[in-house]
Amino acid sequence: MQTVTIDRLSEYLDQEVQIKGWVRFHRKSGKIQFIVIRDGSGFCQTVFVKAELDEESWEIARGLTLESAVIIAGTVQQNPRNQQYEVQVKSLEVVHLSEPFPIGKKEHGTEFLMDHRHLWFRSKRQWAILRIRHTIVKAIRDFFDEQGFTLIDSPILTPTSAEGSSTLFEVDYFDDKAYLSQTGQLYLEPACAAFGKVYCFGPTFRAEKSKTRRHLTEFWMVEPEIAFARLDDVMNLSEDFLKYIVRRVLDHRKPELEVLERDTTKLENILKPFVRMTYNEAVERLQALGSDVEWGEDFGADDETMLTKEFDQPIIVHRFPKVFKAFYMEPDPEDDKLVLGMDVLAPEGYGEVIGGGERASSIDFLLSQIAKEELNQEDYEWYLDVRRFGSTPHAGFGLGVERTVAWFCGLPHVRETIPYPRMLYRLSP
Ligand code: 4AD
Ligand code: MG
Repeated sequence: MQTVTIDRLSEYLDQEVQIKGWVRFHRKSGKIQFIVIRDGSGFCQTVFVKAELDEESWEIARGLTLESAVIIAGTVQQNPRNQQYEVQVKSLEVVHLSEPFPIGKKEHGTEFLMDHRHLWFRSKRQWAILRIRHTIVKAIRDFFDEQGFTLIDSPILTPTSAEGSSTLFEVDYFDDKAYLSQTGQLYLEPACAAFGKVYCFGPTFRAEKSKTRRHLTEFWMVEPEIAFARLDDVMNLSEDFLKYIVRRVLDHRKPELEVLERDTTKLENILKPFVRMTYNEAVERLQALGSDVEWGEDFGADDETMLTKEFDQPIIVHRFPKVFKAFYMEPDPEDDKLVLGMDVLAPEGYGEVIGGGERASSIDFLLSQIAKEELNQEDYEWYLDVRRFGSTPHAGFGLGVERTVAWFCGLPHVRETIPYPRMLYRLSP
């Protein structure tokens, strides 16, 4: 008999099939039992009718505990009430009778659920979130592949800092020390001079000492980098990119968004033209809204929320003060207090999901920045080479996967967006 996955049951109407899965829910009466099975691809109701089963199978079914592993054979039918596909059971094999499952119907605290993350992601909500994450990751790769980008994997063990020394994880490296990568960008800049359009996609590490709903210590970032590109090019690219990903999620993950009760009209808004404003305009707007942000300060989470609540669609803020941005940013030729950086801020208070911009292409400027930041020039000689041999304008950005998943799924915290979250006080399971 053919084993089928629950997501494809509709193709087997009136046929006899086999499903391999786990018991999610059990409702019994004297003559009929309903058991909801999940198999990773979906959830379906299976119906056990006493009159149609042998005595032994009926009794075994009655004794099934939640999360027991089973193989069920039966006929696929469509429930006339809700149009859902279900299985009229003919036989049952118990692969493993589960011990009492620690996660039940009652409310559990977040810490308890996080301690049981390895079991928690069997639940429907967590399953839906991680399926959407999968689709986002696939859409990210497809977007860059379709646009002619070459994947250049950047290293995780690095000798230097790229996004400030305060968030570096240090590890022993034989008789020396190394750091976990904060960004692949420095490695991509030389690569775009070899391959034109490149991207890297992998885990990224920041020793964030703050407990916020937007920060993980290990997160996934995708970073495109393009030779000859300017700030405007990457602003446009970031907009096309987010539209592409959200379109994919809307088209392919409707059932999962329904499980999450996500208001998809909010996601449709991402398909509208993004709002664009300079940092200077954003500061004025924020001050008018009552924020106490001063020119020259980075926006806090509250500022980002305040600004994004004004619009339905994402906002691209560009041209930031040099003082709080990374050493590698290209200065604004119109105003030397500014750099050609950009951030994409998500609506509904989700805040910054993309950061990037144009990179300094002049070696003299970069040398002065390295000196100013008291970085060891020797460590950056290889990076400076991009400016020695056919230096071009170039630009790129980084998108954080977990913040994007939280936003698309409408979640209050990034901890549910990655299978095994790593945070200030969490390193297990
Ligand atoms: O703005 P960031 O720090 O930019 C860079 O690292 C650039 N070098 C990227 C580039 O231009 N190639 O980080 C980019 C994005 C943020 O917008 C955010 O979405 C995510 O990475 N991010 C985090 N996500 C979760 N937890 C953290 N601690 C994060 N830090 C950054
Ligand atoms: Mg940033």
